[in-house]
Amino acid sequence: MCGIVGYVGKAEAPQALLQGLKRLEYRGYDSAGMATLNGSGLAVRKAVGRIAELEKLVAEEPIHGQTGICHTRWATHGSVTRENAHPHFDRSGKLALVHNGVIENYLELRAALEIDGHFFKSQTDTEVLAHLIGREFDRLKERSKGRLVEALRAALLQVIGTYGIAFIHEDVPGVIIGARRGSPLVLGIGKEENLLASDAAAMVSHTRDVVYLKDYEIVALDAEGFQITTLQGDGAGYVISQVEFSEKDVSKGDYPHYMLKEIFEQPRTVRDAMRGRLAPEEGTAKLGGLEMSNAELRDVERIVISGCGTALHAGMVGEYMIETLAHIPVECEFASELRYRNLPVPKDTLVFVISQSGETADTLAALRECQRKGHRTLGICNNVGSTIARENDGGVYMHAGPEIGVAATKSFTSQLVVQSLVALLLGRITHLSHSEGLNIIRELEKMPDKVAKVLELNDRIARIAKKYAQSKVMLFMGRQFNYPIALEGALKVKETSYIAASAHPSAELKHGVIALIDESTPSVFIAPRDAVFEKNLSNIEEVKARKGPVIAIGTEGDDRLAQVADDVILVPEAPDFLTPILMVIPLQLLAYHIAVELGRDVDKPRNLAKSVTVE
Ligand code: F6R
Repeated sequence: MCGIVGYVGKAEAPQALLQGLKRLEYRGYDSAGMATLNGSGLAVRKAVGRIAELEKLVAEEPIHGQTGICHTRWATHGSVTRENAHPHFDRSGKLALVHNGVIENYLELRAALEIDGHFFKSQTDTEVLAHLIGREFDRLKERSKGRLVEALRAALLQVIGTYGIAFIHEDVPGVIIGARRGSPLVLGIGKEENLLASDAAAMVSHTRDVVYLKDYEIVALDAEGFQITTLQGDGAGYVISQVEFSEKDVSKGDYPHYMLKEIFEQPRTVRDAMRGRLAPEEGTAKLGGLEMSNAELRDVERIVISGCGTALHAGMVGEYMIETLAHIPVECEFASELRYRNLPVPKDTLVFVISQSGETADTLAALRECQRKGHRTLGICNNVGSTIARENDGGVYMHAGPEIGVAATKSFTSQLVVQSLVALLLGRITHLSHSEGLNIIRELEKMPDKVAKVLELNDRIARIAKKYAQSKVMLFMGRQFNYPIALEGALKVKETSYIAASAHPSAELKHGVIALIDESTPSVFIAPRDAVFEKNLSNIEEVKARKGPVIAIGTEGDDRLAQVADDVILVPEAPDFLTPILMVIPLQLLAYHIAVELGRDVDKPRNLAKSVTVE
């Protein structure tokens, strides 16, 4: 939530900043701003609205400089106004700061600063932080990079909350200072230029050499180099990592939207999630990142899976997968609930947290709470080097590549594949035979081609979407492995189209939901030919008996759905536990096309941000 970029080097900073900022627009997009050091002081531009508005402003009223910072905002404190847009300034107006996170004690700090004669122009917590650092700096006589860092340290020791920050100061040109606690910050190491950003995607046009900063670290950078220290003032060790993806991976290519591009990437991402992890000779999966021996895995008595939104829906499928293949009891819990719930968790419980971004505040807090209670926690993350990936005791990367569309699509199917591998591994340790394991591997290997086949239905799904796009309410129903897919389908429609969509286990219909059924309320049934197919069919009949339109997603070769449903989408057959990977894709496409039909901003739905780093 909120994206920040800093650039210091030989090029014109505004161009580098805008280019980076556009790659972070998924993090928030209600207002944006930048500040540069232009030789005689600070130059500032701010605009309400998308980054395109800031770009327009900078084109009309150019600013210059080779050092600068910028920000795209997702409002937390204070409404969406130019005054509340970042950067914010200290009392002298010489220090400009951008911030991602929340300063929880900002009201107390603000009151104390006001007594000290400080006036504030915005309602933000960030402006308080700028004043605090500026005040500490003004207390010091020498105007140097070292003193700026010292002032920052003194200020941060007074702060409660989370921050990823970058700031510049007129008196110390050619320098950017950054710090993090709880919000991501990545240093990019270029040739005669260095960068700072919330996400490595913002700097891949300049460099793929990055350092993922840790909590309580401070970095000072200029065009020639950087120093990383801790909040206590000690030198900090660091590792330079290579970003796996390139500029091409973060561009839309020929697709009109990132969401569509990412849906269409799924044959590759599904393959990449299992690449090098299938061991046919042993009939199992190899997941070295879990850092657990088979003997340790054998002792697992219970599993808790946690995450938020789409990641939680993936976890719910994982619950069915692990219980079915490995017979280990699994509980799936919202991370936002788990972090405050006093869940009685027996000793040999393994905790999995799932997060595409690896930065979601609630998921991180749930993970820390479970670790505090002494449980081993494992992560299923996409974003390499992210906080959740680093803080876990082990884990599995999805290797889905950057996901930029705000609605999660390809990361979801990767999460399902990874969990099917976990289920296979645990199953083989507990009771699955070699030949059963091998059969599962063979089925997994077929999935990328099956996913590609589902994507061939795109045009047909676009036509169906047109037919139902004006609906005010939509219902999604599924059973067992595909109940979470109903939840995911409804979420995709809600967030991209703003249609009131709700999801239910099919059999729950008659316990209340059926009252919503009429001629204008479509029901989407996820009804593969599986163990509960006949039951789903009866539920469809119940809806049809009340004149409700039905869209059914079923299995190729089935002719019974067509007899009851108004529109039928058939996908290739797969074992029950793998059907969710195929069933969700038509729902992603349906949501996408409905949103396009309604003229929604598909990649940046209102009020949302991709990486939810606040509670
Ligand atoms: C929905 C969506 C969100 C995220 C949720 C968790 O399309 O994107 O529901 O799934 O905010 O995000 P991560 O996976 O980054 O922890």
